[in-house]
Amino acid sequence: MTETGTALSGKPPLTVQAAVPKPASERVQDEWNKKFSEKVLPDEPDKFIVENLHYLKEMNCKNVLDLGSGTGRDAIFLAKKGFTVTAVDFSEEGNKIARERIERNNCTQSVSLLSDDFTKMELGTESYDCVLANKSLYYFALDQFQGLVRKILAALRPGGIFVMRTYSIEDPQYRVGKKLEDKMYDAGDHPRRFYTKTELQDILYNFNVITLRKDVSTNLLGKYQVMWAVIAQKPFH
Ligand SMILES: C[S@@+](CC[C@H](N)C(=O)[O-])C[C@H]1O[C@@H](n2cnc3c(N)ncnc32)[C@H](O)[C@@H]1O
Repeated sequence: MTETGTALSGKPPLTVQAAVPKPASERVQDEWNKKFSEKVLPDEPDKFIVENLHYLKEMNCKNVLDLGSGTGRDAIFLAKKGFTVTAVDFSEEGNKIARERIERNNCTQSVSLLSDDFTKMELGTESYDCVLANKSLYYFALDQFQGLVRKILAALRPGGIFVMRTYSIEDPQYRVGKKLEDKMYDAGDHPRRFYTKTELQDILYNFNVITLRKDVSTNLLGKYQVMWAVIAQKPFH
């Protein structure tokens, strides 16, 4: 973007190069590369996944698409429980740790790690029994999030399940930083969209919602957080 200065002195106008803000996706990627390179994150699977594993078994899931797999803790846990996992993340630093953990845990046969931006990827049609998005879909504005949920619905086989956690408006970070749009703020690192229960119920109207409950925990960096835990099934018909 360029701005042209006024030539008050009669000299040729000044051309000022204004800073071009990075797209939100690049800021998310930078932020996670930084976080993953600074801190070694737990090997243990998220309690949310451990507690909800029974749904994957009850729904006869065999393959799982893990969107925003981070350092691979959930993908490895699921692989050890017998699932085939496609794990996707665009953080090179996260993927470096994930790759090493996948090898160390002898999961190279059951976890395919893709270094990609899942918003730009083809997710396929009726390709997965389960799509997992554990704290990876809150960076997006409402319309983009709705578009991703539609893609996830298409990617699931009938009866498949969508397992997600995303921010609630009860989270302490709600309203912190610059307001970008309704319920969406940027606290200096990257955008976060916070949701009410009713909004999520509306967005998930094409699913049979099995669970939509408040989930209080600490995040990867030890901060208290309030999220929505969602288990939603794609209808058979
Ligand atoms: C809060 S971390 C959660 C990681 C993992 N699900 C967990 O719970 O351990 C969010 C992850 O989503 C990834 N991510 C965010 N947007 C993404 C995108 N558009 N494509 C690929 N990965 C993305 C980030 O790089 C980061 O690793």
